[in-house]
Amino acid sequence: MKRVQESAVEMTEIVMPQDTNTLGTIFGGRVMQWMDIAAAICGFRHCRTAVVTASVDTVSFLCPIRTGNIVSVKASVNYTAHTSMEIGVRVDAEDALTGEKKHSVSAYFTFVAVDERGKPIPVPKINPQTAEEKKRCKEAEQRRKIRLQMRNKSHAS
Ligand SMILES: CC(C)(COP(=O)(O)OP(=O)(O)OC[C@H]1O[C@@H](n2cnc3c(N)ncnc32)[C@H](O)[C@@H]1OP(=O)(O)O)[C@@H](O)C(=O)NCCC(=O)NCCS
Repeated sequence: MKRVQESAVEMTEIVMPQDTNTLGTIFGGRVMQWMDIAAAICGFRHCRTAVVTASVDTVSFLCPIRTGNIVSVKASVNYTAHTSMEIGVRVDAEDALTGEKKHSVSAYFTFVAVDERGKPIPVPKINPQTAEEKKRCKEAEQRRKIRLQMRNKSHAS
């Protein structure tokens, strides 16, 4: 059993001109890359084995992130199943001059622990401690059910 805090990640980035489009707002793919990296580090810390991204639930960009913004990317394990786990990732953009922070993106990643041949292996169980961690765990269990139903449907067609 592992605690959520043992693997939690907080990455900080600054948005550079090469990360942005002609409007000076960040490319969605750049944000998703940071999110995937933060989630992968979180998965590595939790499992201490190789982990791969199996899927990402819907990603909605809630507000633009601009050149010069300080971006915080937080990732933590919400739920563990057998060989997979849900990792929640939240991105906040901070105005470097005013300090104003805005929630910009959130997404749920499913990572699978694998051996050296890429075969799924068991993940350590998560041990949620706080009321917030327990709530996230419960909600993630529900999302997994829906995810598995969708996966079965798409495999059947
Ligand atoms: C992810 C991967 C290891 C799963 O292997 P698989 O042979 O399909 O394994 P299984 O069907 O036994 O599933 C293993 C676990 O992954 C989960 N899983 C597989 N595909 C999934 C998907 N699309 N979404 C969510 N979970 C998924 C299963 O639910 C299962 O979880 P559980 O053991 O906790 O119940 C394999 O599909 C893979 O290597 N994919 C490529 C990963 C990759 O390269 N990612 C980088 C981006 S391209």
